[in-house]
Amino acid sequence: MDTRSKLRVETLAVHAGQAVDLATGAVAPPIYLATTFERDVDGGFSRGFSYSRTDNPNRQMLERCLAELEGAEHAIAFASGLGVANAVLQALRAEDHVIAPRDVYHGVRRVLERMEERRLLTVSFVDATDPGAVEAAVRESTRLIWVETPSNPLLQITDLAGVAGIAKSRGILTVCDSTFASPVLSRPLEFGIDMVMHSTTKYIGGHSDVTGGVLLANAPNAVFEEAKLSQERGGGGGVPSPFDCWLTLRGVATLPLRVRAQSAAALVVARFLEGHAGVDRVFYPGLESHAGYALAARQMTGFGGVLSFTVRGGEAEAMAVAGRVRIFTRATSLGGTHSLVEHRASIEGAGTATPGNLLRVSIGLENVGDLVEDLGEALGTVGRA
Ligand SMILES: Cc1ncc(COP(=O)(O)O)c(C=O)c1O
Repeated sequence: MDTRSKLRVETLAVHAGQAVDLATGAVAPPIYLATTFERDVDGGFSRGFSYSRTDNPNRQMLERCLAELEGAEHAIAFASGLGVANAVLQALRAEDHVIAPRDVYHGVRRVLERMEERRLLTVSFVDATDPGAVEAAVRESTRLIWVETPSNPLLQITDLAGVAGIAKSRGILTVCDSTFASPVLSRPLEFGIDMVMHSTTKYIGGHSDVTGGVLLANAPNAVFEEAKLSQERGGGGGVPSPFDCWLTLRGVATLPLRVRAQSAAALVVARFLEGHAGVDRVFYPGLESHAGYALAARQMTGFGGVLSFTVRGGEAEAMAVAGRVRIFTRATSLGGTHSLVEHRASIEGAGTATPGNLLRVSIGLENVGDLVEDLGEALGTVGRA
């Protein structure tokens, strides 16, 4: 569908990977629950499907759609975002070294640390906002540089072209966790990154009702191929169900509209918090005060719907603020229709470097005036005593 790739993101989100059902004319795609598919009389599979772990029509529609949105040739859908990370990292060898950001999603950090403990790889955590620090961490054995931008939970911005340049000249593979940006705000492959991953549980699904992940690439490399094998036939088998794929694809249709509205509202909330006496610091790349603002403005088309802030006082005050919200829901995750607030350090657990007074919020689709009032009331007199 070459003509499709010239289409704009809103059109791709509705049409890419899908067509009106040939048999019935159904506009919404059917859900193909079958786990197994009929062989031809000569033993072949001319209709393209044999067994649902290997491929399924709903998964294929989702993969094709997400590949077009990301500007990628290839996509592999997984049962969760962490499933993607595991498949990528398990494709490495014991002698391989990985460079990862210090501020990386804590689930990925834990996988990396556990794999290092079990001598399945070695890892260096660096300040990924500084390309010099990334370069300094490179070893002979470095096989993969993992980046995440904007990062979770500090919303740090990594220079994608800078990291890709460091990696390319040394034959190192790169992967970007672009979950916070979604394909609407950033397309890391265009900056020379080899692979992109998303937790589709977040913006792509968009309604907090389906878990999933996707790995995307232009030219399949050895790690990508291994990850694909692990999904289909090897040890992993972590494929999403047909219904999960269908639901995720249904979410994609509104992705560009949702993400832009959430980004616009997040900026309003960030500015409000920045001016509030009860707030120490706001972490949002759309604020001029954010260290990554200029870079984000260059490599993203919007700043996203997630922000974090630290509450004046300490952990108890932050918990109390989260306890007083009425429109925000106290829950982990992000990217859905409902605005969420979470006390990040207690989600991440023991050993976290996240400040105890930090709250992370994901802006949903409610009226932004109501959200600002809710946070204002929850902050109350904090910082004014
Ligand atoms: C940036 C990022 N990457 C990956 C994941 C893991 O995705 P999942 O929860 O779908 O396994 C998350 C989950 O919060 C995330 O925030």
